[in-house]
Amino acid sequence: MTKFINPSCEIPYKKFIEYYNHAFKHKQKAIDAVCISSYDIDSNEVSSRYVNLKFITNDEFIFFSNYDSPKASSFNSHSQIAALLYWPSIDVQIRMQAKIKKTSNKYNQKYFFNRSEEKNALAISSKQSKLIDSYNQVKENYNKSLKHDDLKTCPDFWGGYSFTPYYFEFWGGHESRLNKREVYEKIDDNWKHFILQP
Ligand SMILES: Cc1cc2nc3c(=O)[nH]c(=O)nc-3n(C[C@H](O)[C@H](O)[C@H](O)COP(=O)(O)O)c2cc1C
Repeated sequence: MTKFINPSCEIPYKKFIEYYNHAFKHKQKAIDAVCISSYDIDSNEVSSRYVNLKFITNDEFIFFSNYDSPKASSFNSHSQIAALLYWPSIDVQIRMQAKIKKTSNKYNQKYFFNRSEEKNALAISSKQSKLIDSYNQVKENYNKSLKHDDLKTCPDFWGGYSFTPYYFEFWGGHESRLNKREVYEKIDDNWKHFILQP
């Protein structure tokens, strides 16, 4: 579930929340899964992965991850990202473009402090996306962390990412294939509205 905290009243945010609530009513599974695509200048590669969208606070979309992971390296090298959701229960796709940045250490500490110890042990014990000898080793590292680590203090290598889209495209599927595509793009601080051909 994504939590909405004083969400922006601007039109694309209202639209996003309307669709979210609609998908929620239709019991959409993994409703908070958002695919983030990023470009890493150093490796000259584009990569995508799902993350859980935890909050929309004002105009910021927020998720949490490992700051030493491949995605973190790509965000460091190139802060432009694309975010993508598809809710099959209502046949709606939402595309967004944004710049991404880390949330503050204070914010991370507060969030981490209030999470379950199990989740925190996972975050602490995993050198995300690094090679390891076996899955058993992953479990051992997790159990060690659960017993011995300080599970209330957020480590420096973990925390939130926030992005504020300047581009939204809402795609609504129709049986007739006359799919509706509406774009909201922020130009000179104003949202411009466009319709795209399907
Ligand atoms: C539905 C779903 C939600 C996920 N949520 C997160 C998340 O919130 N944070 C995270 O770091 N990884 C999450 N993952 C794992 C990532 O997709 C990815 O495997 C991991 O972050 C490593 O990505 P990277 O190597 O590009 O850094 C999720 C995976 C799935 C399938």
